[in-house]
Amino acid sequence: MRPTVNGVLKYGMTVPSLEEADVFYRTFGLLPVEGARTLGFACDGAAAEQVELLEARHKRIAYVSFGVDEGRLEEFGRDIEARGVVLRDAPASVEAPGLWFQDPDGLWVNVREARPDPGRSLPTVEMNVGGARPRVDVAAWRHMPERARPNRLGHVLLYVSDLAASERFYAGLGFRLSDRTGRILSFWHARPGDHHTFGFVQSTHPGLHHSSWEVADLDMLMIGRELMDDRGHPGWGLGRHGLGSNIFTYFPDPWGSWIEYFIDIDQISENWEPHDYDAPTTMWGPRMPQGFVVNSESTERTEL
Ligand SMILES: [Fe+2]
Repeated sequence: MRPTVNGVLKYGMTVPSLEEADVFYRTFGLLPVEGARTLGFACDGAAAEQVELLEARHKRIAYVSFGVDEGRLEEFGRDIEARGVVLRDAPASVEAPGLWFQDPDGLWVNVREARPDPGRSLPTVEMNVGGARPRVDVAAWRHMPERARPNRLGHVLLYVSDLAASERFYAGLGFRLSDRTGRILSFWHARPGDHHTFGFVQSTHPGLHHSSWEVADLDMLMIGRELMDDRGHPGWGLGRHGLGSNIFTYFPDPWGSWIEYFIDIDQISENWEPHDYDAPTTMWGPRMPQGFVVNSESTERTEL
């Protein structure tokens, strides 16, 4: 079997102020990574950095990092070279092992031997719903989390300039289509599990649409949301998506992208059949905010 990527490990972006990024990501609930070269964040308990922030004049998505299974990197490199991908030296400002190359929009892609952090098994307070009454003599309010601590990086959605070209390219790395809506939006997965771990939104130029982080339960999601609201990042949600079915709340980051807490995303197997739907839908929740799919990322190239 040809080697394929196994999921999304991390993304890097440039930001005009590392101080501002530090406050924003801490407020969201991610933890700074000790010893990071610039500024790095990860979920509580994660084995490796999941976001790297680099300082530059403009905020831009800088790179996306994917895993391949142990012992398969060389073979993976040969396979994608045979498909026309040109392997390059790592950009000067990043220090990451593995292969480096660029996607059709010029975005740097890193592939290394690792697996996406699976997150931890988290204690949650059982809910007396659906006719079942599992919680007896336990006062739920006494077991609320103090704040949101994302458990794992769920997915990353990119703006791309040519959806079909990006789909072809990332399918070549081993991603499989989960579902799409016309020529606007498509969701992808690398392994059975979450309905989507990666995806694209058609735009005029590349950018980061959003990253999405799983939290333990609805209480943690809403407790996280309250803190974000209090700190000046009012969210969109609570809602439930159509494709993926995840319950979500999104917050604008300080630079025009979004960041999401989610719970309860659809799990899919090898048997999943992708479909093309007319339009993205929200099953319930407030109306999508203005500017949710406006790519405000700078088109100015930043050399990494
Ligand atoms: Fe999402």
